[in-house]
Amino acid sequence: MKKHLPLLTVSLLFIAGIFLLSFTDLPTYPYEGSSRCSLCHSTAEIGGQYEIWFSSAHRRALSDLSSEKGAAIAEEKGIKKPADDPNCLSCHLTGYDAPFNLLGPLYKRQDGVSCEGCHGAGGGYAFFSIMYDEKKAVSKGLIVHPGENCTDCHDGKAHTMPPFDPDRAIKAIAHPIPGRIKAR
Ligand code: HEC
Ligand code: HEC
Ligand code: HEC
Ligand code: HEC
Repeated sequence: MKKHLPLLTVSLLFIAGIFLLSFTDLPTYPYEGSSRCSLCHSTAEIGGQYEIWFSSAHRRALSDLSSEKGAAIAEEKGIKKPADDPNCLSCHLTGYDAPFNLLGPLYKRQDGVSCEGCHGAGGGYAFFSIMYDEKKAVSKGLIVHPGENCTDCHDGKAHTMPPFDPDRAIKAIAHPIPGRIKAR
C-alpha cells in the first residue's frame, strides 16, 4: 500500500485540479487591454492591427449596448442597464467577469470586444521575447487562430442577428501581418 501512496496522491491532486478548473473559465493571465497590444501592433510595418480593430464593430461592442437599439433589445428582455448586465456583457465586453487582479493597468471597458477577446488574455504573452516564439506564446495563453471561436458569440441566442457567414466575417475583420498572408 505504502508504495502506491505517491501515485494515489498525484491522482487525487489531478482530480481536484480538474474539479476546480470545471468551476472557472477565468484566464490564468491578466487581461492587458488593447492599448498594451498597440505598443507593437500599430505600425504599418506590422500591419496596423490596432487601427483596424479600433474602427471595427468589436471596439464599439460595449458602447453600442447604450444605443437606442441596445435599449430596445434590453427592454424586450426586461433588462434595465444593458451596459452593466452580464446577460449582455458576456459577449459585448472582454474580461467583464474577471476579478481585479486579472485586469492589467491598461485594461479599459471601452475596449469592448478587445484583441484579447479573440486572442486570449495577454498578461503572459505580450512581450517581444515571447511573441516571436509561437510555441512559447501559445503556452502562455495566445490563441493564434481564433477563427474557430467566432460562434461563441455569433450564435443569435441572446438576440436576433444575421446568420453568421464565417468566410465573409473573417474577411471583414482581417488584420494580417504584411507578407504573411500567403503563408497561412
Ligand atoms: C512587445 C511588443 C508586442 C506586444 C506588446 C504585443 N505583440 Fe503581438 N507580436 C509582436 C511581434 C513582433 C509579432 C510578430 C512575431 C513574428 O513575426 O514572428 C507579434 C505577433 C502576434 C501574433 C501572431 C502570432 C503568430 O504566431 O502568428 C498575434 C496573434 C499577436 N501578436 C497578438 C497580440 C495581442 C493580442 C497583443 C496584446 C495582448 C500583443 N500581440 C502584444 C509584438 C508584440
Ligand atoms: C451570445 C452573445 C451575445 C449576447 C449575450 C448579447 N449579444 Fe448583442 N450582439 C452579439 C453579436 C455577435 C452581435 C453582432 C451581430 C451581427 O451584426 O452580425 C451583436 C450586436 C448587438 C448590437 C448591435 C446591433 C447593430 O448592428 O447596431 C446591439 C445593440 C446589441 N448586440 C445589444 C445587446 C444587448 C442589449 C444584449 C443583452 C440583452 C446583448 N446584445 C447580448 C452577441 C451577443
Ligand atoms: C466575445 C464575443 C465575440 C467574439 C468571440 C467574436 N465576435 Fe464578432 N461581434 C461581437 C459583437 C458583440 C459584435 C457587435 C458589436 C457592435 O456592433 O456593437 C460583433 C460584430 C462583428 C462584425 C460586424 C458585424 C457584421 O456581421 O458585419 C463582424 C464582421 C464580426 N463580429 C466578425 C467576427 C469574427 C470573424 C469572429 C471570429 C474570428 C468574431 N467576430 C468573434 C462579438 C464577438
Ligand atoms: C474578433 C476576433 C479578433 C479580434 C478582436 C482581434 N483579432 Fe487578431 N486575428 C483574428 C483572426 C481570426 C486572425 C487570423 C488567424 C489565422 O490566421 O488563422 C487574427 C490574426 C492576427 C494576427 C496575425 C496575422 C498574421 O498575418 O498572421 C495578429 C498579429 C493579430 N491578429 C493581432 C491582433 C491585435 C493586436 C488585435 C487588437 C488590436 C486583434 N488581433 C484583434 C481575430 C481577432
